[in-house]
Amino acid sequence: MLLGFITSCSMGGRGTSEADYDVIPLPMEITQETGDAFSLTSATKIKYPEGNDKMKRNAEFLVEYINIATGLKTAVSNESLSENVIILATGLDSNNSEAYNININSKAITITGASEAGVFYGIQTLRKATPVEEVGSVLYSAVNINDEPRFGYRGMSLDVARHFQPVEFVKKYIDMLALHNVNQFHWHLTEDQGWRIEIDSYPRLTEVGSMRNETVIGRNSGEFDGIPHGGFYTKDELKDIVEYAKERYITVIPEVDLPGHMLAALTAYPELGCTGGPYEVVGEWGVFDDILCAGKEETFTFLEAVLTEVMEIFPSEYIHIGGDEAPKTRWEECPYCQARIKELGLTDRDGHNAEHYLQSYVTARVEKFLNDHGRRIIGWDEILEGELAPNATVMSWRGMEGGIQAARMGHDVIMTPTTYAYFDYYQAQNTDEEPLGIGGFLPLEQVYSFEPAPDILTDDEKKHILGPQANLWTEYIKEPWHVEYMVLPRLAAMSEVQWMQPENKNYENFLERLPRLIKHYDKLDYTYATHVFDVQGKYTPNFETNSLDVVFSTIDDADVFYSLDGTEPSESSIKYEGKFSISEDAEINAVAIRDGVKSKVLNEVVKVNKATYRPIELLTTPARSYEYSGAEMLIDGLTGKNTNYRTGRWIGFQGEDLVAVIDMQQPTEISSIKINNAVVTGDWIFDSSEIIVETSDDKNSFVTVVSEKITDDKNEHWSEISTHDITFEPVTARYFKITVKPSVMPEWHPGKGRSAFIFVDEMSLN
Ligand code: ACM
Ligand code: ZN
Repeated sequence: MLLGFITSCSMGGRGTSEADYDVIPLPMEITQETGDAFSLTSATKIKYPEGNDKMKRNAEFLVEYINIATGLKTAVSNESLSENVIILATGLDSNNSEAYNININSKAITITGASEAGVFYGIQTLRKATPVEEVGSVLYSAVNINDEPRFGYRGMSLDVARHFQPVEFVKKYIDMLALHNVNQFHWHLTEDQGWRIEIDSYPRLTEVGSMRNETVIGRNSGEFDGIPHGGFYTKDELKDIVEYAKERYITVIPEVDLPGHMLAALTAYPELGCTGGPYEVVGEWGVFDDILCAGKEETFTFLEAVLTEVMEIFPSEYIHIGGDEAPKTRWEECPYCQARIKELGLTDRDGHNAEHYLQSYVTARVEKFLNDHGRRIIGWDEILEGELAPNATVMSWRGMEGGIQAARMGHDVIMTPTTYAYFDYYQAQNTDEEPLGIGGFLPLEQVYSFEPAPDILTDDEKKHILGPQANLWTEYIKEPWHVEYMVLPRLAAMSEVQWMQPENKNYENFLERLPRLIKHYDKLDYTYATHVFDVQGKYTPNFETNSLDVVFSTIDDADVFYSLDGTEPSESSIKYEGKFSISEDAEINAVAIRDGVKSKVLNEVVKVNKATYRPIELLTTPARSYEYSGAEMLIDGLTGKNTNYRTGRWIGFQGEDLVAVIDMQQPTEISSIKINNAVVTGDWIFDSSEIIVETSDDKNSFVTVVSEKITDDKNEHWSEISTHDITFEPVTARYFKITVKPSVMPEWHPGKGRSAFIFVDEMSLN
């Protein structure tokens, strides 16, 4: 920040800025050299080896990137220049074909790659080192940078089958991947909900299969929007996208998911299913029983025709054949499938049934067809069930186990476990403030912590881990902005997993580098999640001062302003200068303000009663995942805003009463207790069944003041904050023991007869 202030004098926006090489992903080695900086201006030329079209394209990219970031208009040149030039060259001596070197002195910036791809990554680094600011010149201090990726496979997927995306957006997505040094675009093109590739020999795939009549609202609510949804890519469009990606050193790996997730194709060609249909391009989400019939020979005629055309469009060595989530329900009943099982002599063995081996037969047959045409298959880890096709690469998504097993069998593996790599998962705990998503919780830090080659593998086995990939499924993601929001900035974290050596990774340091990458996102008009920039509040009851200690923080120590009266804070509000305390009712609003731009407002309502900030002890143990900061949550003056019990405002108990003792520190008169329960019966969370208040002056012998039973006679699911306000004859005592008892789940509920969860946010005594 300070550096930027000193070096960028603004002369009508034509000042000088200074490059910062600490980009994302961070290069392996950056060595400061002596000597003056290189000054980039609109007079700078970018020189590439004559006759090399890829390098010419690289040079043009750099011209474009510099222009977007700074407004400077450099130009491509073939002249022999000795000054004010950026020289692009190949020929770097390295075993890693994507390695590059950047050498900078006052006369020239030289990017030398082990290949044209290496030069491209050097260009990405130079681009990200360039500040996003309209200037007359940029100073690049003298350095020598050596860099190369850890993994040769650096993937990101996009599902355009659940929700179709236009060609222009797919190109923007590819640009986003390039910015993060991703080199594999796994494109999920076929699904139950839509077929998106034009296939000449089976025209109904797109004529019929690319369109669904309507889409379910929310999460399989049973209600539909009544709006047809569809779209597909023509062969010309697909080839254009493949070429667009190739120029950016990205391989497009198409996925034709088989034999499951095929309802769109079955709708177009019902004879390919076991029952013959009719089928429907579905408008709901999930796993469906109707899959391709593995008994009928015409299924294989179909697959070979489709894959032949897919190979014509996509030159990638890999073709992804899916293989996930293929229920065997129809195959078990189908005479064709059963005849095939008999003919092949398939039986139940080694924990898999004959139908699993039938899927292995389909996979192996498709693999042989593709191998015969010089291609290789990738399949989801379900292809391990039964017998793994001889040359298959396994994409491990249901955890790492499938990948570990495959690597031990000598197969190549791409690691994309849900817990680190599913970008359709929520990125914040407070899901009420997020666009509707599939569920899950995958914050930035967890993506960053991903280790794709676990140490339980030997070094030789680890060589089979080609690399990590993140996936984006789009059941709940319709619009391009939402795609971007789910991917960014998590892809920045993933790019360091993919590119950097693990010993060089550091999350805190990554966070320090992130704001500058985000300036590029802004400039490129990318939507991104901003959670990491929001003000974080930490609230700790202080039993000595009987108040709440409040601490705010941001990842970049931005200026924070706040108010305590519920008003919207601005630069004229109180500036946060360090920890402060609250001992009365307040509504806290806090924002970080950067260059006049406000972050999301952090809002907390504090309500004080006689028990607030008094010492408290729990006599029973909260449920492990819902303990948060424990007993003090019950007297911190902070309540749950809604029934989202995962925000850290609600403490949860299961199979146990909640029993707490509050020390009022002196004899205190009390005549009421108020307790809230978060109730979400669908998640086995019910109202409390009884609340008991006892008092004591010695914390040893307690007498009961009130005991109130709560009845719940509803006979269907419900979800709300249930408030219990109990008044009694005034009592004066120092210690108050509160017992909250859970309910036994009723007859109508799947958990009937078992003790429910209870969630309580606060215990108010007055
Ligand atoms: C998958 O997420 N069904 C591969
Ligand atoms: Zn069948």
